[in-house]
Amino acid sequence: MESEKKLTFPLLMSVGTAVIGSLQFGYNTGVINAPQKIIENFINVTYEARYQEPISKSALTAIWSIAVSIFSVGGIIGSFSVGLFVNRLGRRNSMLMANILAFIASAMMGFSKMANSWEMLIIGRFVVGLYSGLSTGFVPMYVGEVSPTSMRGALGTLHQLGIVLGILIAQVFGMEMIMGNSELWPLLLSFIFIPAILQCILLPLCPESPRFLLINKNEENKAKTVLKKLRGTTDVSADMQEMKEESRQMMREKKVNILELFRSSLYRQPIMIAVMLQLSQQLSGINAIFYYSTRIFEKAGVAQPVYATIGAGVVNTAFTVVSLFVVERAGRRSLHLLGLLGMAGSAILMTIALALLEKLKWMSYLSIVAIFSFVAFFEIGPGPIPWFIVAELFSQGPRPSAMAVAGFSNWTANFIVGMGFQYVEELCGPYVFVIFTILLLFFFVFTYFKVPETRGRTFDDIAAGFRQTSAGGAVKHSPEELNSLGADSQL
Ligand code: GLC
Repeated sequence: MESEKKLTFPLLMSVGTAVIGSLQFGYNTGVINAPQKIIENFINVTYEARYQEPISKSALTAIWSIAVSIFSVGGIIGSFSVGLFVNRLGRRNSMLMANILAFIASAMMGFSKMANSWEMLIIGRFVVGLYSGLSTGFVPMYVGEVSPTSMRGALGTLHQLGIVLGILIAQVFGMEMIMGNSELWPLLLSFIFIPAILQCILLPLCPESPRFLLINKNEENKAKTVLKKLRGTTDVSADMQEMKEESRQMMREKKVNILELFRSSLYRQPIMIAVMLQLSQQLSGINAIFYYSTRIFEKAGVAQPVYATIGAGVVNTAFTVVSLFVVERAGRRSLHLLGLLGMAGSAILMTIALALLEKLKWMSYLSIVAIFSFVAFFEIGPGPIPWFIVAELFSQGPRPSAMAVAGFSNWTANFIVGMGFQYVEELCGPYVFVIFTILLLFFFVFTYFKVPETRGRTFDDIAAGFRQTSAGGAVKHSPEELNSLGADSQL
C-alpha cells in the first residue's frame, strides 16, 4: 500500500506543530541546570532586601530544590489530567488550550526578578510543569492517531526529538555569554512564550485527529476529508475500514476509566507493560545526568564540565535521530532491549571510572565516554519508545486513561530521581550508578519476557493480541510479531 508510506506535507506539518509541545517540555527540563548560581544569587539578594539579613544556606537550598522539582509536581498533575480534555475538546484543541499555561508561566518567571519575588519563579515552574505534563499525553496521542501504521514509530520518535532538542537549546542558551547571566536569566526562563505563539499560529492550520472525529464524534465525512489530506490520496478506504473496526470494538466495551484499566483482565497486562516501560525510562537514571551532569563531570575531574554537559546534549540529540531511522526496521522491543543493556554496561563503566579516579587521573576521560554512551543507548530505545508505545498498546476507548496512568508513572519516577539522586549520591559515593545498573537489568528481563512487538501492527490488531492472551489463549505472539522477532535476530 503505497499511500501508507507517504510523508505528506499536511502530516509533517501536523506532527511538527504538535511536537513544539515536546520542545517546551525539554527546554524546561534543561534550562534550570546552568544558571543555578546566578538565580540563587537573585534569591539571596531579594531575601536580604526583604528581611535585612542574608539567607541561610539551608533555606536557599530548600527554595532552589522546590523551584527545580515543582516542575515535576506540575507534570504529575498535568499528565494525570489528560483524559479530562482530549475527549471533550479534541486532541488538537487541547494542545491549543494548553498554551494559556505556557503564557502564564512565561510571564510569572519573566517578571519574577522585576517583582523581587522568587515565589513567582516557583509558581511559574509549577505552571510550566502542568503544561509539560499535559503535553506528554497530548502529543504522543495526537501523533499516534494521525500517523499511518507504517510510520507510527518514526513519527512517534519525533516527540522525543522535540524533547532532546529542547534540552539542547536550553543548555546552549543557558551559557553565560548567551542568556545564563544575571541580566538575562529572566528572558532565558520566559523564552517559552515564543514557541507558544508559534504553536498558536500553526495549530489552527492542522487537522483534528481523524480517529477522534470518527470514533468519538461519529463525523465520518470530516474524518474522511482529513485522512485524504494527511495521506495525500483519495482512496482512504483501508484506513477508514480499520478505524471503523476499532470503533465497533469500542462500542462493545464499556467506557474505560482509570480504575477499570486495572480491574479488567483485558487491560491489566497492557497497562502493566505501559507503566513498567515508563519506569524503565525514568529509573534508568537518565535525568540524574540531565539535572546534575555538570556536577557529576566536576566530581569526575573533567576540566570543562559545562562543555561536557553540552556534549551530552549533542550525543542525546544525535542518537534520537538514529533511533528515528531504525525504529521501523528493528522494532520497538529489540531497540528497547538493546538500549537497556547498553545503558547497564555504560553504568558499570561509569562506576569503574568514578571508583578509580583517585588513583588514575585519566579516568575522567572514561567518565565522559561512559556518560556519552549511557545517553546514546538511552535514546536508541528507552528514551523515545515508552512515550509512543502507550498509544499503540491501547485502542481508542481506554487510550486516554492509559496515557494518564503512564504519564503519571513517568513523572512520579522523574520526581523521585530528581529529588533523591543528590542524597543517594552522598550515601553511595562512586557506587551510585550500581543502583541504576540493577534496575536496568531488571527492566531488561521484564521487557524480554513481557513486552510484545507492535511495529507494523494496527491498533486493533495489537489490542486483539492482548484480548487473546487475557482469555487464556496460548497465542502470545501474533504472526507479525513472530516475523519481527525473526527479523531481529538478523540484526
Ligand atoms: C525523555 C524523558 C525525559 C528526559 C529526556 C532526556 O523524554 O522523559 O525525562 O529528560 O528523555 O532526553
